[in-house]
Amino acid sequence: MRRAFTAVILALGIVFAAPAFAQIDCKLGEVVIKFSHVVPPRGHPKGDFARMLAERVNTEMNGRACMQVFPFSQLYDDEKVMEALILGDVQLAAPSLSKLEVYTNKYRLFDLPFLFEDMDAVQRFTASEKGQELLGVMSDFGVVGLGYLFDGLKHFSADKPLLVPSDGAGLKFRVQNSDVAVAMIEAMGASAQKLAFKEVYGALQLGVVDGQENSWSNIFTSRFFEVQDGITETNHQLLAYVVFAPKEWLESLEPDLREQFLTIFRETLVKANGQAAKTSEENRQRIVDAGYTVRELTPEQRQQWSDVMRPVWGEFEDEIGKDLIDAAEAANVTKNN
Ligand code: SIN
Repeated sequence: MRRAFTAVILALGIVFAAPAFAQIDCKLGEVVIKFSHVVPPRGHPKGDFARMLAERVNTEMNGRACMQVFPFSQLYDDEKVMEALILGDVQLAAPSLSKLEVYTNKYRLFDLPFLFEDMDAVQRFTASEKGQELLGVMSDFGVVGLGYLFDGLKHFSADKPLLVPSDGAGLKFRVQNSDVAVAMIEAMGASAQKLAFKEVYGALQLGVVDGQENSWSNIFTSRFFEVQDGITETNHQLLAYVVFAPKEWLESLEPDLREQFLTIFRETLVKANGQAAKTSEENRQRIVDAGYTVRELTPEQRQQWSDVMRPVWGEFEDEIGKDLIDAAEAANVTKNN
């Protein structure tokens, strides 16, 4: 009954209100740069990046350019923001790479469970030639990948304790719009429901789904921990973004303006990526400090999760490319050489 009721709520598109967010007014003649995203404006790697970028653009480019940030899915959710970017309705977007499978299979690489051991490996791979090439895979759609923005690795939670994958059997987990994620959930004998980010809290609270998987920063800032039994520190999959801009818009800018914007952009991205791990750790600690349960796994327990989920790689290997998977995996061991 509760599920039927909540299915109606979701079908009607009723979502749980995010706080209002004041918007800066742009002046006549300024180039307007709109950045739409789905997370809070502060305390989250993507929110912090967007806010820091806007602060610099609006100070250093005042009179020539003006940046407006729309957090909390206020303008578009991730399922719609790429369409808006392609149409030029927004100038910057950084959807989770898991949500781009309608455009390309290549980013499915980043969804493969237990591919990266840690964020250092992610940084090594994305900085490599193959990683940098992947920034360009959306060019057929007229958008440019300006750089990777990192959140962190993901963790599972449910309305019951999860220590080994069989604990999740029979449960329903919210996933992003990703067939790799669906296969990963089904591998543990559970079922998956694709839901927009803005619907996750309500779906967990009302029991439309039993569990979810996300980064510490999303679990804390969107308060998923409040409506779950606890979080299991699985580090099973990456949550990362590429910041995209429409090619035509970028090329339409005066060369000096474009150069100034891209310089500020690159510097801010380096700064944001440099502080993402700390933000993630702080958000984990805030959940613990609030008295909620974080379950750490023994190496044997984590191995069980990996053994159950890694076989899904085989389903996606042809479309992603084995060379790419091998290159990403090799980034794990570089530090040991
Ligand atoms: C995000 O971090 O942008 C949202 C990810 C999600 O939908 O879980």
